[in-house]
Amino acid sequence: MESATQKWTYSILYLAFLYAILYLLHTFFLHKLLVGNQPLRLKKNPDLPLRFRSDGTFKILQVADLHYGNGAVTRCRDVLESEFQYCSDLNSTRFLKTMLEAEKPDFIAFTVGDNIFGSSATDAAESLFRAFGPAMESGLPWAAVLGNHDQESTMNREELMFFLSLMDYSVSQPNPPAEESSNHHKRGRNKNIDGFGNYNLEVYGASGSHLANSSILNLFFLDSGDRETVQGIRTYGWIKESQLRWLRGFAQVFQGQKQDLNHSHDALIPTTPPALLFFHIPIPEIRQLYYQKVVGQLQEAVACSMVNSGVLQTLVSMRDVKAAFIGHDHTNDFCGNLDGIWFCYGGGFGYHGYGKAGWPRRARVISLELGKGEKDWTGVQRIKTWKRLDDEKLSKIDEQVLWESQPSA
Ligand SMILES: *[C@@H]1O[C@H](CO)[C@@H](O)[C@H](O)[C@H]1NC(C)=O
Ligand SMILES: *[C@@H]1O[C@H](CO)[C@@H](O)[C@H](O)[C@H]1NC(C)=O
Ligand SMILES: *[C@@H]1O[C@H](CO)[C@@H](O)[C@H](O)[C@H]1NC(C)=O
Repeated sequence: MESATQKWTYSILYLAFLYAILYLLHTFFLHKLLVGNQPLRLKKNPDLPLRFRSDGTFKILQVADLHYGNGAVTRCRDVLESEFQYCSDLNSTRFLKTMLEAEKPDFIAFTVGDNIFGSSATDAAESLFRAFGPAMESGLPWAAVLGNHDQESTMNREELMFFLSLMDYSVSQPNPPAEESSNHHKRGRNKNIDGFGNYNLEVYGASGSHLANSSILNLFFLDSGDRETVQGIRTYGWIKESQLRWLRGFAQVFQGQKQDLNHSHDALIPTTPPALLFFHIPIPEIRQLYYQKVVGQLQEAVACSMVNSGVLQTLVSMRDVKAAFIGHDHTNDFCGNLDGIWFCYGGGFGYHGYGKAGWPRRARVISLELGKGEKDWTGVQRIKTWKRLDDEKLSKIDEQVLWESQPSA
């Protein structure tokens, strides 16, 4: 009996010893051994919510039409003959890094789609990692919407948006969460909305200010689709009624909040936050700007869908939309006003996308400033924009004020 007990004790000690060794290995060495082999790791997230800086500003870098292929082997299009030999996707990467250093934005909006140029990207995931590399390294929150080319590689639009949402520091979302009342069994995503990459991001006031817990700026991202055939005619995609319904739902919520705020008599908290939109394909009304004064250049026909789904009317009815930022037509970089809402092109950014030789690639910056009250910030006071060219001086051009809040009488 005695020896049996002893055996058991030894066995238990032995097992405990083994377990301790394994535990030590696991906690102290395993992660070191695996680092080189890329173990499963969690996505890195930016600090959320998005916030204005304590100096009362919030700056967005808009990157339009990145058109990324396979990196160093993917040649530039439409550059001068003298530039062609040493020009590849890496020039787009370099331009992105330069812009991040020069402007120090708080947020990057790859909102105008065509992030990867499908037919030139042999592996969508690899191309996405390369294209968004500088954004992921910067640690800045960034968001993307799809254009009409992104799905031409190895992922469909749904896969692309999920992938984008899982990349480091990305705040992109595949689609809005499902409403409480319906669809809750469908894995938490709203399936009643067309497309992929329709989402809303709120920007809060600076920490420490009385606006720290309030959303004072709304950013909306929309999927404007790729191509569709309507009555036998091939045309570009458009923003569907389901998406517009989703937008109008927000406006109603904000109108409700406005009423509540009157009762609280808190004059310092802004009523409805101004909203900015980001999508890829222009709306048909932008053609009206051919005959109006615009800021920037209009060099090519607006390539929109032949279907007019009433986007402009919806935006006007929302009342808080101040500007929409679009892409698609690379050699248009103007801002024009339609019914009180600014529509601004980013201008082509990526070197592998078509452009115009001798007309530098460019990026748009959107700068928001809060108003100064007697003691603290009052909501968004001013929205400005300008562009920078990828030339030697990183020339700043076409600076303009898009919107300024009118002092309430
Ligand atoms: C592309 O990058 C290379 C290497 O940095 C540079 O020499 C070249 O001038 C760039 N080309 C253009 C068109 O910016
Ligand atoms: C914001 O919320 C935090 C945490 O709930 C709280 O400590 C802080 O006082 C709030 N600030 C304002 C201005 O309401
Ligand atoms: C709230 O204030 C706005 C603007 O001052 C006004 O138009 C609206 O009628 C007010 N609503 C209520 C319920 O008092």
